[in-house]
Amino acid sequence: MDTMAWDQRQAVRIAEQMEPQGAEQVLRWAVESFSPKIALSSSFGAEDVVVIDLLSRIKPQVAVFTLDTGRLPEETYEVMDRIRERYGLEIASYFPRQEAVERLEREKGFYSFRQSVENRKECCGIRKVEPLNRALAGLEAWITGLRREQAVTRAGLPKVEMDTAHRNMVKLNPIADWTTAQAWDYIKKHNVPYNKLHDMNYPSIGCAPCTRAVKPGEEIRAGRWWWELPEQKECGLHVKPKH
Ligand code: ADX
Ligand code: SF4
Repeated sequence: MDTMAWDQRQAVRIAEQMEPQGAEQVLRWAVESFSPKIALSSSFGAEDVVVIDLLSRIKPQVAVFTLDTGRLPEETYEVMDRIRERYGLEIASYFPRQEAVERLEREKGFYSFRQSVENRKECCGIRKVEPLNRALAGLEAWITGLRREQAVTRAGLPKVEMDTAHRNMVKLNPIADWTTAQAWDYIKKHNVPYNKLHDMNYPSIGCAPCTRAVKPGEEIRAGRWWWELPEQKECGLHVKPKH
């Protein structure tokens, strides 16, 4: 499929067709339509390892990339290696631009992201958003492990959408309607390797200094950027420009 021809009307039509479909069907359609110009963006959290396993049953060699911010927890590197071995996967790792990180740390120190939302977005911009743009170059579609239940900002998430923040490419969120329990049932049933931090009350895992365990009853992403308001907690990977 030619994404240049992927206009708003077509996007709405396909999104409507895909909405009642299950994750496997959405992924199968996507892989058939866009391979080899499609990749999974993976942080190797519970959702992403589910999608890796689903993909391995459809087309084992779909590309997987990760944004290695340089501040990831040790446990994330461990699960990446376990997944690599289990599925025989090559994980394409994207680092931030060296000069940008060096300048940020020299000018603002090592925890500037705690000082203001603006500073936090600057750090996410350097360590995640710019590398994501490089990872997406040349692709027509990308896959995420986003789920509606995860946050107020994700409640209306479609399974298929036109990503207006990234050249109108196709963005697939095949497990958008899965519950947390569904994801964990899948992981246990298929013995999928997962990040050990999940067993230590970390339902959502990002960079080490910006993630902490949650207390009983707290929301899934309460431990992410815990000093910020829920509406602010998007790092720029999944934003839509306002029209
Ligand atoms: S975040 O935007 O707040 O960091 P979250 O951790 O909930 O996102 O993950 C949502 C989805 O974004 C993941 O399922 C994955 O597709 C993508 N993602 C998040 N972090 C990364 C990362 N470091 N590398 C690659 N993809 C990522
Ligand atoms: Fe920087 Fe924290 Fe964003 Fe990671 S999550 S890129 S450390 S602000």
